Amino acid sequence: MSGMVGARRPIVAGNWKMNYGPTEAHDFLARILPDLEAIAGVDRVVCPPSISIAAAHALTSASGVMLGAQNMYDAEKGAFTGEISPLMLRGLCDYVILGHSERRALFGETDELVNRKALSAFAHGLRPIVCVGERLEDRDANLTERVITAQVRGSLANLPADRLNELVVAYEPIWAIGTGRAATTQDARDVIAIIRALLDELYGEAATAGVRVQYGGSVTAANAAELAAGPLIDGALVGGASLTADFVTITRAFAEAKQAR
Ligand code: PGA
Repeated sequence: MSGMVGARRPIVAGNWKMNYGPTEAHDFLARILPDLEAIAGVDRVVCPPSISIAAAHALTSASGVMLGAQNMYDAEKGAFTGEISPLMLRGLCDYVILGHSERRALFGETDELVNRKALSAFAHGLRPIVCVGERLEDRDANLTERVITAQVRGSLANLPADRLNELVVAYEPIWAIGTGRAATTQDARDVIAIIRALLDELYGEAATAGVRVQYGGSVTAANAAELAAGPLIDGALVGGASLTADFVTITRAFAEAKQAR
């Protein structure tokens, strides 16, 4: 069964957003890396702004900590001013966050574009972390399932079924992002169960068993252990708290919860 407890290795990713240029990125990582490296049993991913990825890579390449980009374009090269190509990320990053709600809301990204990017990530050996999540208006109007269904069907169509263990989905309710108001563990699990059922419908349970679904939105050192404890939440996508050593505490909470199962 795809929701099986303990079947998947947790993944905790830090989305730095537009924080930490190359020098700051290097200094911050140097500070947290020894502690982050020491945590076993969980995939640890740091996602700096693209201009800081090379500086981060100089430190992480010899460690077990992986890098992710926060975005990329789907094309390999050409006249796309300001964009970053999968070829540029390959070799530096293992992961790439796609369709973050800030990209969708502030930069006009559609499910169709996010899908193209996800296909491009697979084609270039990058593991996509695809974000979905409803707005507060959607939740209040009981539209959460409808919105999530459209995002999953639109963003995650036509992926290579035999490589879905490379896919990470981040459930990030928009009302929980940067607000200090995390979803309850039960609400997060309910939506993640919907996401898993949709993936099963699209690709079959055998193919989706390895897909990891994270929760994101105001994850902190204080609430991480509870989110990590039960089934279905395979990790976290962490914004604000990933800019401090709290990221280490959060990562450790997921490692310990996994061990306890
Ligand atoms: P937050 O951001 O942890 O600051 O709420 C999460 C995200 O946007 O990925």
